[in-house]
Amino acid sequence: IYEDANTGSKWIAQEIISLIKSRQEKGQKVVLGLATGSSPLKVYEELIRAHKEDGLSFSNVLTFNLDEYYPMQPESVHSYVRFMKENLFDHIDILPENTHVPDGTLKMEEVPEFCRNYELKIREAGGIDLQILGIGRTGHIGFNEPGSGIRSTTRMVTLDGLTRRDAAPGFGGISHVPRRAITMGVGTIMQAKKIILMAWGNGKAPIIREAVEGPITESVPTTFLQEHHNCDIILDKPAAEKLS
Ligand code: F6R
Repeated sequence: IYEDANTGSKWIAQEIISLIKSRQEKGQKVVLGLATGSSPLKVYEELIRAHKEDGLSFSNVLTFNLDEYYPMQPESVHSYVRFMKENLFDHIDILPENTHVPDGTLKMEEVPEFCRNYELKIREAGGIDLQILGIGRTGHIGFNEPGSGIRSTTRMVTLDGLTRRDAAPGFGGISHVPRRAITMGVGTIMQAKKIILMAWGNGKAPIIREAVEGPITESVPTTFLQEHHNCDIILDKPAAEKLS
């Protein structure tokens, strides 16, 4: 539990930076699982700073993002492809072909094969070394809403009403928020070698309490992380205020 989001984010960025550097020393690549939304923004700022000021290179880094709205065009202001470019990829030396975000432009019938390939690509890359996560107020990780199973894989999902309401201001009203998304599954996330979930602000305090102290249940998919062998939950004080 950190004093504020700034210090918590710096700690997370430092974990990522150390991992990248230690792999570079061994001449190895590193596979990161990335999230969008407001939670990781300061982490990405710190990674950009490390690249620009300290010369940190991302040339050995591969990334797989958790999710994308469906349908979604990559140029849209709401696209997670655009989000990742604007908030990280365009400011570092990562190779564009090493970045992966689920494709919101597919035809419906193309989605299952895309999802199978996404899983395959993660496996071919050697699996995710470090997955970073935010948490939705429904208890979702990625867009794995309540009801998502522990073994679920990358797939098309229907977004929860609360998730769509939380997204509505950014879309100029709930009617503009897509009803669906493509997301890595809980099972995909659980296979990551290390996981760091972050949450900032007291709006997340009730769901953080359920996630950390509640019974493990599909109704709160984040609770599955209690069974992961190497998972850190990084909070600011307001997000931690309901923990006993
Ligand atoms: C984003 C994602 C979501 C968000 C969650 C929290 O790629 O997978 O699970 O992490 O909805 O969103 P913010 O950080 O905006 O509160």
